[in-house]
Amino acid sequence: MITLSVNGTGYKIDADPEMPLLWVVRDLLGLTGTKYGCGEALCGACVVHLDGEAVRACVTPVRRAAGKSVTTIEGLSADGSHPLQKAWVELGVPQCGYCQSGQIMSAAALLSKKPRPTNEEIDTSLAGNICRCGTYTRIRAAVRVAAGLPKEE
Ligand code: FES
Ligand code: FES
Repeated sequence: MITLSVNGTGYKIDADPEMPLLWVVRDLLGLTGTKYGCGEALCGACVVHLDGEAVRACVTPVRRAAGKSVTTIEGLSADGSHPLQKAWVELGVPQCGYCQSGQIMSAAALLSKKPRPTNEEIDTSLAGNICRCGTYTRIRAAVRVAAGLPKEE
C-alpha cells in the first residue's frame, strides 16, 4: 500500500511500487488530464509536479511519490483561474491540445521559482515539452502574459 497526496487529497494506492505514476493518476484515480505521449521521458505530455518539481510521470515509479504531494493539471486551480490557464485561454494557445497540460505544468513549475522569467528561461524550461502542432510561439507569449510581462519582447 502506497500513501500519497494528489491535488490535496490523500490516497492509499494498492499497486506495484514500480507502476509509473502516470498509470496511477490516469487509470487508478481517473485524472486523465495528464497525457501519455512517448512513455520514455521524451515528449513532456505527462508532466506533473512532485513536491512542486516538474517530473515526467511516465518514468516515475509510484514509490517515488510515496508520502509526497503530487499535483496534476486538475489540481493547478479549482476553477481554471491560475494565471497560466487564464493566459492560455486569452491567447488561444492550444491546437489539438494533446501536449498542453504538460506544457502548462512545466510552465507552472518555472513560474513558481522564477515569477518573471526571461525568454531564454522559458525556452529552456519548456524545451522538453514537444508540440507536434507547433504552438511554441503562443506558449511563450502566454507564459509571459501569465508572468505579467508584455506578450512579446
Ligand atoms: S509520455 Fe512521459 S515524456 Fe512522453
Ligand atoms: S497542441 Fe497539438 S501537440 Fe501541442
